[in-house]
This record gives sequence, C-alpha cells and structure tokens, in this order.
Amino acid sequence: MVKDQSSNMPSFRYFCSFLVFLSAISSVSFLYWSHYSNSFWFSQEDTTELQQNEAINLLSYPKAWNHLSFSSNPPPKLLKIAVFVKKWPQRNQAGGLERHALTLHLVLAKRGHELHIFTTTSLNSSFPKYSLTNLHFHLSKPTAAGYLDQAVVWKQFQNQNSTIPFDVIHTESVGLLYTRARNLTNLAVSWHGIAYEAIHSDIIQELVRSPDESRSYALTERTIRVVEEVKFFPSYAHHVATSDHAGDVLKRIYMIPDERVHVILNGVDNGIFKPDLKLRKDFRKKFGIAESSTSLVLGMAGRLVKDKGHPIMFEALRQIFEENATFWKSVYVVVAGDGPWGDRYKNLGSNLLVLGPLEQSQLAMFYNGIDIFVNPTLRAQGLDHTLLEATVCGKPVMATRFASITGSVVVSHEMGYTFSPTVASLKEALYTVWGDHRKDRGAIEQKGEVARQRGLKLFTAMKMGAAYERLFLCIASQSQVDKKNGRDDYCRYLPSDNIAILDQ
Ligand SMILES: *[C@@H]1O[C@H](CO)[C@@H](O)[C@H](O)[C@H]1NC(C)=O
Ligand SMILES: *[C@@H]1O[C@H](CO)[C@@H](O)[C@H](O)[C@H]1NC(C)=O
Ligand SMILES: *[C@@H]1O[C@H](CO)[C@@H](O)[C@H](O)[C@H]1NC(C)=O
Ligand SMILES: *[C@@H]1O[C@H](CO)[C@@H](O)[C@H](O)[C@H]1NC(C)=O
Repeated sequence: MVKDQSSNMPSFRYFCSFLVFLSAISSVSFLYWSHYSNSFWFSQEDTTELQQNEAINLLSYPKAWNHLSFSSNPPPKLLKIAVFVKKWPQRNQAGGLERHALTLHLVLAKRGHELHIFTTTSLNSSFPKYSLTNLHFHLSKPTAAGYLDQAVVWKQFQNQNSTIPFDVIHTESVGLLYTRARNLTNLAVSWHGIAYEAIHSDIIQELVRSPDESRSYALTERTIRVVEEVKFFPSYAHHVATSDHAGDVLKRIYMIPDERVHVILNGVDNGIFKPDLKLRKDFRKKFGIAESSTSLVLGMAGRLVKDKGHPIMFEALRQIFEENATFWKSVYVVVAGDGPWGDRYKNLGSNLLVLGPLEQSQLAMFYNGIDIFVNPTLRAQGLDHTLLEATVCGKPVMATRFASITGSVVVSHEMGYTFSPTVASLKEALYTVWGDHRKDRGAIEQKGEVARQRGLKLFTAMKMGAAYERLFLCIASQSQVDKKNGRDDYCRYLPSDNIAILDQ
C-alpha cells in the first residue's frame, strides 16, 4: 500500500496543484459574480444548456418547465381534461387566477384537447361564447361565499366521467376542495398565491398602515393559515407553482415531495402583446406625448388601489416633483386602470395621464407607448401578469422586491429595477431610472430588449400551454394501467426530441 502511494505521489501532487488552480478560477469568478450581481438577486439564472442526449425525468425537474423546449407538432394524444375554476372571466381585464385559467385552457382547447370547465354562473352578464366545439362549460350557482358548490360540481363531473372517463383533472387553486381531490392520482392543482408568500405582503401592509387605521390581525391569522395549508396541500397529487419561489416554498416549507411539485411560470398572449412602432406612435399622438430624447414615460396598469402600492408611488412622485423641477419637466407618468387613486394622481399635474381601464388591445398600445413599466404592488400573489405583458412588449420593468418577482421576472439588473416597498426606496429607484435614461437613452431600451428575449423564451402563452400539456400527458399516462404493451413515457424529456420550439 505504502509503496503504491509513493509511486502515485507525483500525480497526486499534480492533482493538488490542479485543485489550487481550480479554486483560484472559482474565487476569481466568485469575485466577478459578487461584483456584478446585486445581493437581492438571490436566484441566479442557470444558463447551462441541457446535454442533448441526456434524458431527464420531468417530474423531478427542479427548474421552471418554461426553460425547456417542447415540440410544436400536434399533441401525440388528445386528452379529456376536467377543469375546476371558481370563476371564468367575462372580460379581458381579469388578472391573476382567472386570467391564467382563460389563457391556459384556450391554448389547450386550440391544441385539440377536450376541455370541460366546471365553474360558476355569473349573476350579471351573459356567459362568453366561444367557437371551439371541444370547449364545454358546466355551470353551477356559487355558494354564498362565492365558491364552487362542491356537491353539485362533483355530480356534474361524475356524469361526464361516466361516459368517457377524464384523463386528467386540473383545479385552479382550491376550485376542487382537497376533500374531493384526495384520492385522485391524475390531478394537478395550480397555486396562485399561497399563505406563506402572503406573509411578506402582510408585513408590508402593516408597515405602511397609517396611525389612524387599527392594526390588522392578518399577520397572526396568516401563520395559522400556513399551518392549515401545510396540512391539506399534500392531499393534492400534483402541484404547479406559478413562480420559482412558490415552488421552493411548496417543497421546503409545505414539505411536498419534489416529484409532485412542478414549476410552470405564467404565460401571456404574445400575439397581442408585442413590440409595435406604429402603436407607439399612435399612443403618443393620442395622448400628446412628444417623442423627445429627454422625456421618459413611466407606465402603470391595474386597479388603482392601496394594495397595488399607489399610496407609496403617489408620495414618491409628489416628493420628487417638489424637490426636482428637472425631473418633473422630463417625466410623464401614464396610468391605466381605475380606482380611488386615479383622481389623486391627476392632482399631481399635467404630466400625469390617467387613462381609465383599458381593453387588451388598448393595453398593448399602452405598453408600446411607454418607456418603462412600474409595478409598485404591496401584495404579491402568484406571478404578476402585467410584468410579463410589459416584458414581451420589450419594456424593462420596475417592481417591488417580492420573491416571486426577483426570482422569476426581474432576475437581474439587465432587465429592470427593483425596490423595497417604501417611499424612500421607490424614490431612489425612480431617480436611478431617470439618471440612467438621461445618461444614455439606449440603456433603457437595451434592458427592454433583454427583458423581451427572456420573455419570449419563458413567458408566452404557448410555452405555458405546452408545459401543462406535457405535464398532463405525463400524469395521465402514469395513472393509467396501459392495456397495450409499454406506455409512452411522456414523463421523460430528451432535449434532442424537442428541437422545434413552440414559441414563435
Ligand atoms: C351587477 O349589476 C349591477 C347593476 O348593473 C351592479 O351594480 C353590480 O355591481 C354588478 N355586479 C357584478 C358582480 O358585476
Ligand atoms: C372516472 O371513471 C373511471 C372509469 O370508470 C373510473 O375508473 C374513475 O375512478 C372515475 N373517476 C372518478 C374521480 O370518479
Ligand atoms: C380516500 O381514500 C381513503 C383511504 O383509502 C378513504 O378512507 C377515503 O374515504 C377516500 N376519500 C374519498 C373522498 O374518496
Ligand atoms: C435633480 O436631480 C438630479 C439627479 O439627482 C440632480 O443632478 C439635479 O441637480 C437635481 N435638480 C434639482 C433642481 O434639484
């Protein structure tokens, strides 16, 4: 033994110096990394490509499925899919869960799958009509609290299932309660805001509370809610997290096994939301914004309420306009949406344009017309759609430092700016954007281009739809006892099988 070792000494020595060399390289790259990355970007984008011939098990793929490419061919198998969603949006302005339900399931229906949507009737408007014959709605009256009446929808579901059984069941949040979902292996639930994430929002709300408002009990109640969720979430077989952060929380805090948690980031319609110079010109003409090299146009969209951060945005702008006339003269703020803060913004001066709520096509024009999109939200639930829409339109974004946003959307300074939800931090960010733009107008446009390239790769409705389709194929095949010999292994992903990219 001793002799062997000594004879190996020289190579061992080489090995040691190789190690020293390696650690030197890595410390240099670490210095580089820490110099160029902001400490808030806790999730570094992994740019390493998958090996072309290395198959991966999709169910345990740790990153967002949006990073994978899926074939643009027609689906290998058409599925019968049941969808439980509390409310189906009547108008295009819906956000969050409803927007997700609409965008995703229309993509799947257009891909040819048979969809059965179990949802509530709307009290007011007539239900929207679609020309797709493979999209079926099963309506029921909501409970007093506005939820799906579980006994009724379950009966409707059973009726449908008794003719041709469903391949897969999808519930948007607790549309189908865990008591019913418990024993279904071919089921996936998508979460749009979980209680653990909401604690951050609650802390912020408490900090921005004005002295005359009484303290809310949300914080104490929320932690109890987290414990409840930790207990009942495992009843659902598969979980889709709509942000990288939510995926991490579901695995780490909610202790759901890794192979049952899948990250699929939201997608938006990039046929509607895309760069368009003509729309930009039209927008600027319509609202009297001169296209000059010095002016900067900030845009905000959504409900103009406290939760969306308008009190801090209002105060930050008010203070900046008061202390810096140059800023005031060179910045326009365009606000789409309605709510109590609309009129207050108007009082800030003629460079604040409050447009009221916009339809989807007008919204596309709005994104094109602005230079940077600002979302000062104080409440992060799921993955914000407006940030994704601005991104695919080629606009950089400025947003509150919520983990879902810094982990999945503004993952580096290259594509935008982030700030803490305080007036001071927001002011600092606004001054920084303005300063960057004054130094070099191209800098803002460049960030917009980086944002768009990343957005086209990750945040299109087609990418989201393709990822869900594959998940559904995978869990449907897993739970079916295949009569034929061997089943298609949709859970196995081979990069070389999927060269065609579905996004374009
Ligand atoms: C229903 O319509 C009434 C009257 O038009 C309106 O006041 C109410 O806000 C509407 N409710 C919903 C949920 O849209
Ligand atoms: C749906 O029908 C199939 C076939 O009859 C059955 O195996 C399955 O258990 C049914 N699903 C539910 C949730 O009842
Ligand atoms: C689920 O399965 C458990 C154990 O097999 C059973 O006790 C329970 O009644 C089932 N629940 C439903 C809703 O079918
Ligand atoms: C406005 O802010 C800029 C950048 O911070 C500064 O250079 C300039 O002097 C300020 N102008 C006024 C009038 O305070």
